[in-house]
Amino acid sequence: MNLEMARLFRSISHGVYAIGVADAEGPNAFTAAWVMQTSFDPPMLALSINPICLSYRKLMAGGFFSVNVVPADRPEWAGLFARPADSDKLAGIAWTAGQGGVPLLADAVAWFQCRLAGTLASGDHVVAVGRVFDGRLNFPEREPLSYRDTGDLDGSAALYPDGF
Ligand SMILES: Cc1cc2nc3c(=O)[nH]c(=O)nc-3n(C[C@H](O)[C@H](O)[C@H](O)COP(=O)(O)O)c2cc1C
Repeated sequence: MNLEMARLFRSISHGVYAIGVADAEGPNAFTAAWVMQTSFDPPMLALSINPICLSYRKLMAGGFFSVNVVPADRPEWAGLFARPADSDKLAGIAWTAGQGGVPLLADAVAWFQCRLAGTLASGDHVVAVGRVFDGRLNFPEREPLSYRDTGDLDGSAALYPDGF
């Protein structure tokens, strides 16, 4: 447990996103905070994903991902999509299938559709970069959820090493 390190790294601002993926066996979505824009032209987004999770295998097989911006008034989505993949996380959620079958959530502040363009190993995660080819701002007036508002929901204090 390293609360000090977790507090230090939580000073970096992140939003909260439901990342949609899909393969031949169907769609899935997972909560991610490590998402960033990496280019204007062409527009590109990157995310950092744990390669042991089901969503990673689906992302590599499907080649597409969606970035759904979680609204501040839906904080429960952060926990819902962080559940292990053995449950149907999309049950009861309104969504449509984008390119490759990735879920686009109707109640997201905004969503982006991306084609996987490359990956980079980064410690215990993999950075996946995607070319954005479609996007929609569903609710311009709604605030996005902040990672800092999720507290220790991701259990990150237990994941840092004891020191640098
Ligand atoms: C607030 C929050 C942020 C998270 N951010 C990430 C992230 O950026 N990358 C990642 O791989 N997992 C992240 N996780 C953990 C995944 O959501 C979790 O491992 C999930 O179970 C993976 O889904 P899957 O097993 O269906 O693929 C985060 C969890 C929470 C609660």
